[in-house]
This record gives sequence, C-alpha cells and structure tokens, in this order.
Amino acid sequence: MTKIAVFASGHGSNLQALIDAAARGELAAQIRLVVCDRPGAYCLTRASQARIPYFMFYPHKYPNKAAYEELILRQLREREVEYIVLAGYMRLIGPTLLEAFPQRIINIHPSLLPSFPGKDAIGQALAAGVPLTGVTVHYVDEGMDTGPIIAQRQVSIDPGETRESLEQKIHAVEHELYPKVLQEIFTKRRENLD
Ligand code: GRF
Repeated sequence: MTKIAVFASGHGSNLQALIDAAARGELAAQIRLVVCDRPGAYCLTRASQARIPYFMFYPHKYPNKAAYEELILRQLREREVEYIVLAGYMRLIGPTLLEAFPQRIINIHPSLLPSFPGKDAIGQALAAGVPLTGVTVHYVDEGMDTGPIIAQRQVSIDPGETRESLEQKIHAVEHELYPKVLQEIFTKRRENLD
C-alpha cells in the first residue's frame, strides 16, 4: 500500500473517487491524511465519513507559505506519507513541500494542458470556443499547472454545451482517470523497489 495525503480545498469529488477506488481494491493506496485550507469545505465531511484524519489550516494566520508548509510537512512525516495527491487544492505548492517530495506530488487539472492553466479552466475553454478540452494528470513543479504531463483524456465541447454539462463530463472523466493513473504510478514504484 502506498501511503498518500490528498490535498483539497472544495467539494472533494475527486477525493471521493480515490476513497471509493481504494475501498474497491482498485487503488492500492492508503489515504493517511486529507489536508484542507478552507473551513467548512465539503471535502472535510467526506474525510470524516471515511474516517480519514484531516488537517485543516488557515493560511492567513501564518506569516508565509513556508510557515504553514512546515506544519503540513510535519503532519505528513508523522504519517509516513509517500505521495501528495492534489485534488482541487487551490494553492501553489512551495519549495518546502516540493523539496521534501521530489516527483512525488501529483495534480489533476480540468483542461488539456498546456492549454488553460490556472483557475476556471472549464470557463476558459468555453470562453475560447474550442471544440475540445479535457483532463490532465501531471507532476507538480513550482509553476501553475506546468509540471511534466503523465496522462491526458479528451472531452468534446458539443454544440449547446453548458458549463454544467461540461463540468459533469469532465468530472466523470477525472473520477475514472485519476485512480487509474495513480495506481499505475504506485505499481511501477513498487516494482522498482522490489
Ligand atoms: C477538479 O476539476 C480538478 O481537476 C481541479 O479542481 C476540481 C476539483 O473538484 N483541480 P473536486 O473538489 O474534486 O470536486
């Protein structure tokens, strides 16, 4: 079992997909901790329901990113976390965590990167009028959605597509793709360790 922490800021539907895939035995990972920067976010309810401990912090109460990332790092080390999995975490990861987890931080983004990085990628794609968007799983570096790409899936933007319908299609793809890609990464890593 690979020990992971999931970082989320919001609804947590991807967190749920990972919890469910692990419960079904399709993802050989143990979610040791959920890290969240927003009080009241629904991802915290999901963590509680699955009996996963969470660490909720208020970023503005710290002098800088390094200060709260140090605290997060301590939590991750205590739980022997091996990978950080970002699932709708709305903050850039700083040097403290990047240096502690080289090539061990993974993110999912709702566009075909390098197109539409940053916030509201779905809105950006709709506004651009492109016929195709998608989902990208990638390693995290210091930039905004710029790290090496691991996997991508296309999602069509059909005539009459609304934000709601496109969001639904993208989420469905994310929930299938993320556990699958993570499972592949963790399997490869275990093979290399053997
Ligand atoms: C997802 O679309 C993910 O790609 C992006 O943030 C969204 C999070 O959704 N990074 P949820 O909180 O997992 O429902």
